[in-house]
Amino acid sequence: MKAILQQVIITLFLPFMTYHSLVGQDIIPLPSQVISAPGFFYFSGGTNINADKNIVIPAYLNNYLKQKQATLNSKGVQNEILFSVANNGLSEGYELKITTNKIFLTGNDEKGLFYGMQSLIQLLQHQPLTNGSITLPCQTITDQPRFGYRGIMLDAGRYFQPMSYIKELLDIMAAYKFNTFHWHLTEDQGWRVEIEKYPKLMSKSAWRSETVIGHHNQKPRVYDGEKHGGYYTKADIREIVAYAAERNITVIPEIEMPGHATAAIAAYPELGCTGKDLEVPRDWGVKEDVYCPSEATFKFLEDVLTEIIPLFPSPYIHIGGDECPKKQWKESALAQSVMKREGLKDEDALQSYFIKRMEAFLKTKGKKLIGWDEILEGGLAPDATVMSWRGIKGGIEAAHLGHDVIMSPNTFCYFDYYQSDAPGEPLAIGGKLTVEKVYSFDPIPDELPAETHKHILGGQGNIWTEYISTLPKLRYMAYTRMLALSEVLWTPVAKKEFLPFAVRLNKHIDYWKTKNIDFANHLFEIKPTLSSKNEGLEVTLSPLVPWGEIRYTLDGTAPNDKSAVYVNPLLLTQKTVVTSQSFIQNQAKGSPVSIDFLPHKGLQAKVLASTTPSRTYKGAGERGLINGISGKKDQFNDGEWQGITPGEDFNFKLSWTEKQKIKGVQFKLYYDPESWIYLPSGATLLSSEDGTTFNKACETLITQNKEEKVISVDIPCKIKSQFLGLKIPAIGIIPASKSGAGNQGWLFLDEIRIY
Ligand code: ACM
Repeated sequence: MKAILQQVIITLFLPFMTYHSLVGQDIIPLPSQVISAPGFFYFSGGTNINADKNIVIPAYLNNYLKQKQATLNSKGVQNEILFSVANNGLSEGYELKITTNKIFLTGNDEKGLFYGMQSLIQLLQHQPLTNGSITLPCQTITDQPRFGYRGIMLDAGRYFQPMSYIKELLDIMAAYKFNTFHWHLTEDQGWRVEIEKYPKLMSKSAWRSETVIGHHNQKPRVYDGEKHGGYYTKADIREIVAYAAERNITVIPEIEMPGHATAAIAAYPELGCTGKDLEVPRDWGVKEDVYCPSEATFKFLEDVLTEIIPLFPSPYIHIGGDECPKKQWKESALAQSVMKREGLKDEDALQSYFIKRMEAFLKTKGKKLIGWDEILEGGLAPDATVMSWRGIKGGIEAAHLGHDVIMSPNTFCYFDYYQSDAPGEPLAIGGKLTVEKVYSFDPIPDELPAETHKHILGGQGNIWTEYISTLPKLRYMAYTRMLALSEVLWTPVAKKEFLPFAVRLNKHIDYWKTKNIDFANHLFEIKPTLSSKNEGLEVTLSPLVPWGEIRYTLDGTAPNDKSAVYVNPLLLTQKTVVTSQSFIQNQAKGSPVSIDFLPHKGLQAKVLASTTPSRTYKGAGERGLINGISGKKDQFNDGEWQGITPGEDFNFKLSWTEKQKIKGVQFKLYYDPESWIYLPSGATLLSSEDGTTFNKACETLITQNKEEKVISVDIPCKIKSQFLGLKIPAIGIIPASKSGAGNQGWLFLDEIRIY
């Protein structure tokens, strides 16, 4: 099967299979049906762009075509593009019929016309020029979406995005046929929308004094010292809503409740349960300060929604509902009295009461409620739509209950997760979500019976922004995975296939690069798998996408088109640097990946005992400490360094089949006080006659004299032994005045070289 797919890929790359094999194939999301026909239509300055009467071609699409024409042969073939609307068929569907002298683009409705134009634009972007005319192969595309809800969420709370970022995101969404922008406008760390009745939301809640730097889990926390914030005025909101509407995108605002509300409570402490003075949080995570279910809170939220609703034509309002810790409600006399008054058995029921009340209010304004899947807890509001984020379980439960669902599981739809574990990936919240995994998502789970499928309205990708504060980072984190999701939500399941998609995706990434919009591209990534063998180290090189070939060198130089082609795993037995890279038609793609192998006596040893490392910093497993590969200089989470659970000593024991003449042992330690990683006081080498009783052979004190992250420790020790041990004491409590004072420090080590 793989071989066949590989052949398909190779075929797609052969330039002279003529355009027929490529007909319609460059469009993302892939259309429902493409039927090719002989001949070509030449798009140029000679092409007349016309529309049926009663149709207005969206101005910005018309402008696109006119601007494109201005760059083409003004005396090209006289031909015509004719736009029309059929007023029948599934909403958002269209037919794009390209004949030699005329293109008929017919939308099932105006939305369909819009999407047909997006497909036409993509063809114009990707087909080649002949005499200054773009050569479009004749074909008929009949297309319609699989799902009616195709969303992207942007978190404006963690970072405030300038209008220009949002407009670019909306442009990309429109190009790839997304139709819903879920705008997460309020958060613990910032309130982002003007509400006239509550001016402190803008003067106080919209600003935090500074922001945590680096990962939130990193201790101690370090802050940037810069005030951050901002909010969208009502005029800004109207501008975004109109900009989105021009692109067939509905904007759904999210006003979070009852949790993720610290910024609002910081301005109006009476909305919380404690009445305490709070600051707008400067770091991430779920906060305990939540709205208290008082009448004053309901009045505030109703006032806010009363100002929000006229700004957004969307039939839906999102009220959040996720991650609301109940601690303060348990401790609050007021919350407990509401539970008593309403006969609510626990705090989950109180949350349900809260959401049901808001739903009833929204209904009086003609709006429907959406909430994250926690709104199921304690009982769902009667007509609520559920956005399933903690996997798909909540979505399945809601669909069984007859509620509408939007599938947005973190396992497939969280674009703030890492997309690769290649070194050098920018900081992300955690997790891992490759483009391939996004592509494999199906919003309709197998276990859902057919009669409930109608409740799955579609899916949504989420851009949470704790670690995304700039436009380049937003592009890098979101866009590539958005394209995969666009196909999940639009293309019929039967036509979805990752490898052909990857070929198209790569072309689109290249196209956007010419517009200086850089997407992440991990399609050419090579992942080495290392396996210790008695004779040395076996290296298997696997590409993410099996196209082209892998070339490698063994001398540290970057591979070129003459370098050896990788076929079988490489067995390394002597000092070698393997550098590999993907090549397609002799062109290097992606980045080279290096493995620096330095063998030593430890490679032939058996590991008798090894302290279990911390779950988060396992390195390359038990043999990883003696596999001939050293941890990287600036990355203690590179998959080689092992982090020992703070407070534990490190003990390591090896045996050989016969006595070894050992001259000493070297090992490396990581030093990074900011991350609470310190150096131990010393290390002891042990040897044994029987593999059971180990005695001290040599030892060394460790002192830190240079501010370098990687410290090399050498213990010269001439012994002849079949059994060897290394003992390193725990770091212990970090002393006062040092970073992390009072906590146990971390010990990080890699490559124990026995010479
Ligand atoms: C969420 O990710 N807390 C909805």
